[in-house]
Amino acid sequence: MTAPGTLYGLGLGPGDPELITLKALRLLRAAPVVAYPAPTGGASFARSIVSEFLSAGQLELRVDVPMNPDPQFALKAYEVGAAAIAEHLVAGRDVALLCQGDPFFYGSFMYLFGLLASRFRIEVVPGVSSVMAAAAATGVPLVCRDDVMTVVPATLSSDELEKRLESASGIAILKLGRHFSKVRDVLDNLGLLERARYVERASLPEQRMLPVRDVDPASVPYFSMILVHRRQDPWASEET
Ligand SMILES: C[S@@+](CC[C@H](N)C(=O)[O-])C[C@H]1O[C@@H](n2cnc3c(N)ncnc32)[C@H](O)[C@@H]1O
Repeated sequence: MTAPGTLYGLGLGPGDPELITLKALRLLRAAPVVAYPAPTGGASFARSIVSEFLSAGQLELRVDVPMNPDPQFALKAYEVGAAAIAEHLVAGRDVALLCQGDPFFYGSFMYLFGLLASRFRIEVVPGVSSVMAAAAATGVPLVCRDDVMTVVPATLSSDELEKRLESASGIAILKLGRHFSKVRDVLDNLGLLERARYVERASLPEQRMLPVRDVDPASVPYFSMILVHRRQDPWASEET
């Protein structure tokens, strides 16, 4: 009987191919099957990061995920994707599953992981997260000394965001898109707006950075975030 293949969840970093780890690149090149999620009708961000490293001999498995607000549609799509990946693993073929950023940091990888982990060997390769890339782009430290880092998705309600952010020192707000205006108003209420930095498509040639107050809400894509530090100079110990 053929031994089942291994599923490799490869963290590929925030977008710049130079931020792929050596380990992820080695495992990617060795994998006979390369799987990746992609929005229905759209291109896969994860695949675009590694496109120059894929070879003609590799079989590509696209997992189409509908961008419907009802999560049932996406869950169904992941079940279909997991079944297709499982067929290769059962046949003894390793599968590299491409994950933008880090797989276990808000990654859609986790849906497939949840569906396959009880049956197959899965190895997760960490990646450079977009939060780290965005902080590096701004040139402002994220957190130091006794600071507490708070990461929130912009999808939370205004009340919940306010509650989570009122005592936070370093803040990253992900999944902005159409939630941008709500987040900007919350930061304004908390007196944090002037320190809030907006970063779009960090590490890519199209990267854009602006003070949050200068951002046109209609222009905000999904691949953007806001970073804030309560102190003017995060590395300074006194409140400034
Ligand atoms: C589903 S989460 C995936 C996070 C990813 N696993 C990571 O470790 O960075 C998607 C969110 O990550 C953020 N994001 C991912 N890549 C980004 C980038 N290159 N620039 C800015 N934000 C990014 C955005 O806030 C986006 O809405």
